[in-house]
Amino acid sequence: MLGTIPDRSIDLCYLDPPFGTGRRQVARRGSYEDPTSDAASHLAMLAPWIREIHRVLRPHGSVLLHGDWRHAHRQRLLLEEVFGADGFVNGLVWSYGLGGSSPRRFARKHDDILFFAKGPSYFFEAPRVPARSRRLLGRTKKATDVLEVAAINNMARERCGWPTQKPLALLDLLIRACAPPGGLVLDPCCGSGTTLVAAVAAGRRAIGIDLSPRAIALARRRLDGPEARSAGEPAVRRRTADRRSSGSRSACRSRSATGTGR
Ligand SMILES: C[S@@+](CC[C@H](N)C(=O)[O-])C[C@H]1O[C@@H](n2cnc3c(N)ncnc32)[C@H](O)[C@@H]1O
Repeated sequence: MLGTIPDRSIDLCYLDPPFGTGRRQVARRGSYEDPTSDAASHLAMLAPWIREIHRVLRPHGSVLLHGDWRHAHRQRLLLEEVFGADGFVNGLVWSYGLGGSSPRRFARKHDDILFFAKGPSYFFEAPRVPARSRRLLGRTKKATDVLEVAAINNMARERCGWPTQKPLALLDLLIRACAPPGGLVLDPCCGSGTTLVAAVAAGRRAIGIDLSPRAIALARRRLDGPEARSAGEPAVRRRTADRRSSGSRSACRSRSATGTGR
């Protein structure tokens, strides 16, 4: 399916593939296989995706590859092979906080998101996040490469029942930073469609692909619902405002497409 996308047509690709956990990932609305992958098999799975992503990106386009401690170090080498060492922009840390701990090591509380650009004139607009220091309290500052965004908890309204669903606030932040307004965002492993919903709500267009027809059905449903309606401002700021008032939002939808298969 990725092969049907024209060369140099995509502004941003976000790729969130199976991490190689060795567990079948199961939730209320579906499941997917995530077999343990050694270095060689993980890279063999990813390499064709990365080459295709490089082909479809526009000259100012970029890729965000989501992984964790299992393979992030290998993924960076693979991206360097295809995009060149100069393509590296950031090794982002998504610090999410939720989950257990172990008496044997520091608790693992982050994922890695590798940001590579196709060329030197890549699009980037630094996102702003709430400042924490007392001096700047109530104001925003430019985000660093450590993104503190809470994972989706069991009670969250946005939880839609797809395993390893990512928070809209994380995708909102990444998309506004790395894809131009009106630009085209691709997610080749879109799952429940978080990337597509965040892109459409932020005034970008989106294409989603997934192996699972159930994932595609979920993504379509979310795209037709209130989450995909633009509030015209970043989710981080919007959530702060939501707490203050429950005022109505303007509806603004742009086109998106979803499909199954690789
Ligand atoms: C980590 S999940 C993505 C979760 C998604 N970001 C979300 O927020 O819902 C990985 C997805 O990859 C899909 N997948 C696995 N192998 C695939 C393949 N060969 N081609 C396309 N999608 C695949 C799975 O069905 C699963 O939905």
